[in-house]
Amino acid sequence: MKKRILSGITPSGSALHIGNFFGAVKPQVSLQDTHETFYFVADLHALTTVHDKNELENNIVSVVLDYLALGLDPQRCVFFRQSDVPAHSQLAVVLGNYVSYGQMKRMHAFKDKLQKGTDIESVNMGLFNYPILMAADILLYQPDGVPVGEDQRQHVEITRDIAESFNRAYKTEVLKLPEPLISKETGKIVGTDGERKMSKSLGNVIGIFDDEAAIKKQIMGCFTDPNRIRATDPGRVEGNPVFIYHDLINEDREEVDDLKHHYREGTVGDVAVKERLFAAHQRLFGEARRKRAELAGNLDVVRKILRDGAQKAGEVAGKTLKDVYEVIGIDNTLNK
Ligand code: TRP
Repeated sequence: MKKRILSGITPSGSALHIGNFFGAVKPQVSLQDTHETFYFVADLHALTTVHDKNELENNIVSVVLDYLALGLDPQRCVFFRQSDVPAHSQLAVVLGNYVSYGQMKRMHAFKDKLQKGTDIESVNMGLFNYPILMAADILLYQPDGVPVGEDQRQHVEITRDIAESFNRAYKTEVLKLPEPLISKETGKIVGTDGERKMSKSLGNVIGIFDDEAAIKKQIMGCFTDPNRIRATDPGRVEGNPVFIYHDLINEDREEVDDLKHHYREGTVGDVAVKERLFAAHQRLFGEARRKRAELAGNLDVVRKILRDGAQKAGEVAGKTLKDVYEVIGIDNTLNK
């Protein structure tokens, strides 16, 4: 039997960049080959920050198109929207009773928000309760592993704590404890400023689905070796963002080796290296870009994928919810 993987994607509105791709999307796509995979768009989670109807709707459509274009394959994974499977909300209401205020108060996501100057009294309860909904998302599917970024490790840990405390209270094993699967590269890809982690809010990204002119601009503006003044100066390849990106994006290894060699010798200019990088970006993502445009023009196909996904997910989730209701005494003599 294949091991089961589950992960959620919050449609918070920032366009995907290559850091997200290599850190999260690509590993999730590969897991489809080896595991039973459940991936969902965590649209209810997005409410912690998005309170504009059109914005939320656009974010959801956008994430769905991005992931389908980049290789989530409905033949090989169950892809659905969280809000299409009511069991997520239903289980969250139950699980809140097996975790303490003290445990919740220690969650980073909520505390990070406070550091950014938010007054504790005004933090919305959706954000505070976020880990409970996330625990419900996970426990409904009894996955073996949950691939997430390092920033989400704590949420998987509290999910385990909630499951344990539930199981202990009822002397049962209905809730299976999941393992966090933290991908090594996640979050470690340096931005085009050569300094900080690639992140939309820092404006140091290379996009995937932005228009070509924008991507070209991001690449041409990338920081390189600051000590290299003329193209004839020997350049440093190690730690140079342009070469880090070549190593990730450019599948033509010979070209990359050749460029590195010439760069070290001072016989190729930064502009030429960046132009090769732009061409490699087009080769790697060209197909996904075409596919995304095609899906955007054919939303009926997308609707059907999500409907089928919700149907399959609902069967698994409904079963767990029923087991939980039975264990706690909600499914009892009066509704049998
Ligand atoms: N909180 C996760 C993130 O921001 C998204 C998410 C929601 C999730 N529910 C989940 C991830 C369940 C894994 C499992 O990245």
